[in-house]
Amino acid sequence: MTLLLEARRLREMAYAPYSGFQVGAALRSTDGRVFGGCNVENAAYPEGLCAEAGAIAAMVAGGAREIAEIVVVADSPTPVPPCGGCRQKIAEFASADTQVTMVTLSGQELTMTLAELLPGAFGPRHMDKG
Ligand code: THU
Repeated sequence: MTLLLEARRLREMAYAPYSGFQVGAALRSTDGRVFGGCNVENAAYPEGLCAEAGAIAAMVAGGAREIAEIVVVADSPTPVPPCGGCRQKIAEFASADTQVTMVTLSGQELTMTLAELLPGAFGPRHMDKG
């Protein structure tokens, strides 16, 4: 199963009645397993849960802690980059050179590293007291 196919499948499962914008995400953890998610909105917080956050939650619940690569799919004119909050969530479980691939339904693809998406990321080292 490719990450792209899984992300496309999961996009179809999205619950996005407020934005009408369905997103699917699939990641491979460093132990080789695949986890995924879709966006899930709600009336009080219409932005809801992003697909990437869902995929990360599934990975953590499955006992994995490291993202090897992640793919995000949406029906947009250009590849949709993860929102700021999701970049930080990905950073928690990935490294600077982890590849984030964004794909449109028509197949346009853009791959960036996490460091490119979130330069100067806040991390645990910033909480060191020295
Ligand atoms: N969304 C995601 O799930 N991932 C992204 O990378 C961008 C945005 C969702 C959140 C919300 O349900 C909808 O797309 C519109 O913002």
